[in-house]
Amino acid sequence: MNFKGRNIVSITDLSREEIEYILKVAKDMRPFHDGGKVSKSLEGKILATFFFEPSTRTRLSFETAMFRLGGNVIGFSDISATSVKKGETLADTIRMGDAYADAVVLRHPNEGSARLAAQFSTKPVINGGDGAGQHPTQTLLDLFTIQSEKGNIDGNHIALVGDLKYGRTVHSLAEALMHFDVKLTFVAPKQLQMPKEVVEHVRASGLELDVCDDLGKVADVADILYVTRIQKERFVDVEEYRKVANIFRVDMELLESTKDDLVIMHPLPRVDEIAPEVDKSQKAAYFRQANNGVLVRMALLQLVLTGVGL
Ligand code: CP
Repeated sequence: MNFKGRNIVSITDLSREEIEYILKVAKDMRPFHDGGKVSKSLEGKILATFFFEPSTRTRLSFETAMFRLGGNVIGFSDISATSVKKGETLADTIRMGDAYADAVVLRHPNEGSARLAAQFSTKPVINGGDGAGQHPTQTLLDLFTIQSEKGNIDGNHIALVGDLKYGRTVHSLAEALMHFDVKLTFVAPKQLQMPKEVVEHVRASGLELDVCDDLGKVADVADILYVTRIQKERFVDVEEYRKVANIFRVDMELLESTKDDLVIMHPLPRVDEIAPEVDKSQKAAYFRQANNGVLVRMALLQLVLTGVGL
């Protein structure tokens, strides 16, 4: 299995075997992140992080991953300080990443932008989130988290909750879970339900799938609650946002009747959909999940830049 030079644009570009291989390499990265071991495997390599949209976890964990393996980082997190403000196109910006760095991580508000960018780059392009499209590296860290929290991905009943219409993390995750033997429930108000094509794709894959708007009922039987934020920035009409803004909330009362080994995940940032008092519950895995992002991104950078794990 050779990832050297490969673009990571959509989770649908990866087979189950490839996903499992990346998760294995990510597991091997733990001592290099936790400080037990040191590697300079990416010494001399440069990663460009081009973030046209805000980010805390994706950008910083990619940068941490690069530094942990001895590499360097260039890039921007605010386009107001770049020539994008003078009208430079995405294609030309990407050409500069291609010239100055060995790989580019791109976050952009337009769906399909990472696929487009890959056409203008001879170096690997990694999609750090393209509008309401895909977020493949988030999905890999989500799968890594399910595996490390539950021991296995197969066999779990996974409920995806919240903004399933605009949420790129849940689009990517639903597509990836089709490789596994899981039961899925999509929990959202009608106007924010999963796009029809994703629902049809999951059903065609043969997975057991329920679609509903009752979080309480699903929380009692699920093994994993994957909660997402209602994304205000994706709504054209703020009144439409207000109607659904506080529709779901995971709090201690909701957790009372859930399984003892329930795992609560969230790609973060959260706003009001998980009460802060839930953070101290062992069921709350979302900060461990965010930390796993460094391991998975170390694995991806190692693989696309060198072709071999550590
Ligand atoms: N989960 C995630 O993509 O977080 P950021 O927007 O902070 O990168």
